[in-house]
Amino acid sequence: MNFQVKKGNLAVAKADLLVINIFEGMKDTKGASAAVDQALGGLIDKIIKEEKFIGSLGSTLLVRPEKFSAKKILLVGLGKKENFSEETVRQVTAVTVNTAKGLAIKNIVSILHGAGHGGLSAKICGKAMAEGALLANYEFVKYKSEKKKDNLIEIFEIVSLDSSHVREAEKGIALGRIYAMATIRARELVNEPASHMRPIDLVNATKSVVQASKGKIKIKIFDRAALTRLGAGGILSVARGSDHEPFMVHLTYKPAGAKKKIVLVGKAITFDSGGISLKPSDSMVTMKCDMSGAAAVIGAFSALIELKPKMEIHGIFAACENMPSGKALVPGDIVHSMSKKTIEILNTDAEGRVTLADTLFYASKLKPTFMIDLATLTGACMVALGEEVAGVMSNKSELAQKVLLAAKEAGEKMWELPLEKNYRPLIKSEVADVKNIGGKYGSTLTAGLFLQEFVGETPWAHIDIAGPAFAEKPLNAYTKLGGTGFGVRTLLEIILE
Ligand code: BES
Ligand code: ZN
Ligand code: ZN
Repeated sequence: MNFQVKKGNLAVAKADLLVINIFEGMKDTKGASAAVDQALGGLIDKIIKEEKFIGSLGSTLLVRPEKFSAKKILLVGLGKKENFSEETVRQVTAVTVNTAKGLAIKNIVSILHGAGHGGLSAKICGKAMAEGALLANYEFVKYKSEKKKDNLIEIFEIVSLDSSHVREAEKGIALGRIYAMATIRARELVNEPASHMRPIDLVNATKSVVQASKGKIKIKIFDRAALTRLGAGGILSVARGSDHEPFMVHLTYKPAGAKKKIVLVGKAITFDSGGISLKPSDSMVTMKCDMSGAAAVIGAFSALIELKPKMEIHGIFAACENMPSGKALVPGDIVHSMSKKTIEILNTDAEGRVTLADTLFYASKLKPTFMIDLATLTGACMVALGEEVAGVMSNKSELAQKVLLAAKEAGEKMWELPLEKNYRPLIKSEVADVKNIGGKYGSTLTAGLFLQEFVGETPWAHIDIAGPAFAEKPLNAYTKLGGTGFGVRTLLEIILE
């Protein structure tokens, strides 16, 4: 999709589909939308009344004017003005793209949503419009024999009367495109079926990001022998049941003069069958998504070369597959983790934390300013917060606040959960240092407490993305079924602070 921003008057713009907007509860159009209405002799306002169109968020009204510069006009509802935000702009732009796709229209001419009565800067509007449009335009069609690629939008033109808006919106669009493409990169990795996205495939996908960086991103790959030398018993034990070799990947981006060093860690279980503690079939169906944390880290890294953040950034994940077999880890096993702490395995389905024990320990040795992990860690987090909201836990409240703020700006929903120290005894083991499950209640929190055992004093935030990483049904206008790329945009906000 190509974006163009032009100074001009929407009322004379030649278009297959012209997009204007209205706030909920307003009786008539305002600003540039009103100019279109006037050029049509009040037709739009008249239809709004006739159709009793109230302008609720994402609602649409299609008008086919006679003898006008635009063939069709799409009026989109912005919802209530008091609820208006960047996220509104993403949603309504996505609705526009979805509507145009349905009408087989390839070129859209649109108002710059939000820069007038919405009160947002033109740059923010441009960014949100690019994100909403590109993410809505994304479809995972690789395995469809009949690829419907021809219904994708080709040109998205934004027209504004204000020439200073034009330049600012262009800057925003450039940024929004980077955010969206990084998110799509993560979606592509998650959507790939597990047999096509084995640990080695995840490593190769990462290598292609490194290659494209022309030396700016370095990669270290730890194979089984190297993991053995590191004493990575957590990773190696989870990988034991699988026929596919495990790998730990360490990415480094180190610009000159960097003052901060941060580490991004992702859970990278390419398929989680549960292992010997086998999952029921229904719960296994979406488990190709269990590498979504790593996908978010790789997606974020794919944007670094263009974004050029000033901090040193490391990305680390341990790719392995959790399978049952005669060689697999069994309940009751005791594992020697890289940190030398021993872990009693009581449920082989609580495998993510066992691999993260090593990955986070390795990451903490880099002595970063702070580190953040993203992990599809617990079904309990989905029970607590549902399919859209991630849980954030941190040993440093300022870091939790930083993550929550970045998420808000990114339009990703997150909520803080406590690392309740009174629950620590729940993961104490009788026979080892810790056990990998903490009983029936609060298991998102005991999973967080388990991870905390391996981070030492490093400021660390853990984001449980079990709910929002994968959409079992379309979640909103720009998040369709499948991998969502959740977390990428929050990470980019943090990196660019
Ligand atoms: N990968 C799952 C968590 C998950 C569930 C992610 C649903 C996305 C959607 C994780 O490895 C797991 O199986 N966790 C268990 C832990 C339990 C055995 C303590 C869970 O949540 O049931
Ligand atoms: Zn599991
Ligand atoms: Zn898992």
